Amino acid sequence: MTKTAADELSKIYKAEWRLEGEDISHIHAGYWRSDTPIEAIKAACENYMQEIIQGINIESGQRILDIGCGTGAAALFMAERHGCIVSGVDIIPLHIESVQKVIAKRRLEDKINAVCADILDLDFPEGEFDYIMALESMHHIHDKKTLFKKIGKWLKHGGCFLFSEMALHNRCSWLSGQLAGFMTGSRYLEQIDRYEEYLKEAGLNPVDMRDVTPQTLIKAHEWSERDGHRRLMEYLGATNGRGIAYALPIFLWLTMRSLRKSHWGLHFCRARKK
Ligand SMILES: C[S@@+](CC[C@H](N)C(=O)[O-])C[C@H]1O[C@@H](n2cnc3c(N)ncnc32)[C@H](O)[C@@H]1O
Repeated sequence: MTKTAADELSKIYKAEWRLEGEDISHIHAGYWRSDTPIEAIKAACENYMQEIIQGINIESGQRILDIGCGTGAAALFMAERHGCIVSGVDIIPLHIESVQKVIAKRRLEDKINAVCADILDLDFPEGEFDYIMALESMHHIHDKKTLFKKIGKWLKHGGCFLFSEMALHNRCSWLSGQLAGFMTGSRYLEQIDRYEEYLKEAGLNPVDMRDVTPQTLIKAHEWSERDGHRRLMEYLGATNGRGIAYALPIFLWLTMRSLRKSHWGLHFCRARKK
């Protein structure tokens, strides 16, 4: 792991993402179904996981790799609800410390293993995992070609790669691309079509790719508006300085405009190894 990459990301994720009464945080956009009230953030986090695994027949004991596991929300969901054996990897030491605390508190040592590393520096045996997940983590990873190659190797035949990712659309303007990079703290956003190419190059067959921007990023904005974007301010302030507060309304207005015009967005994807 390069220390600079971890340090840089630690600044972005300095903001407190934890919800009241929770010992872990979901560091993703959430998913609001048509009947999910805007204030129901916990339901939105739960929906997100259900939507990610929709149509997948997960069995107890199956092995999962969670790339960029954050503080372990998805790992816990897969281990506690579905009895899976999860390997979580994250580049930020504080995130992994958090996962390890939760593993100890809930006695999940035989179900979850959490490692602090850059995923690009790791290797696993061929066909090690039934599923590999990457939830909103790949936009931080510069060498996606190598990453997808590794994923193709690490998955079993018939295994699935489940990911959610922010990506640019064909009609994305220069300004929308800049805003997307700024809001996601990423210099490595890609065109959505490029993901299909990465998958194919890695021997993975895209089964389902859907744009979930209206149910996720746009709703998350409405949810965030309720307390004056406190979390967003912490998150953007951590990387860009407190001065961002003055410019935030215009940034947000332009960003929401670019999302509504579908210049970029969040996608849920599922691909199977042939
Ligand atoms: C938006 S957060 C998502 C966290 C988690 N997947 C979730 O849904 O709650 C992205 C995570 O990816 C991690 N990450 C970024 N680059 C990484 C890398 N090269 N190797 C491992 N983890 C990485 C970050 O540290 C961060 O925790």
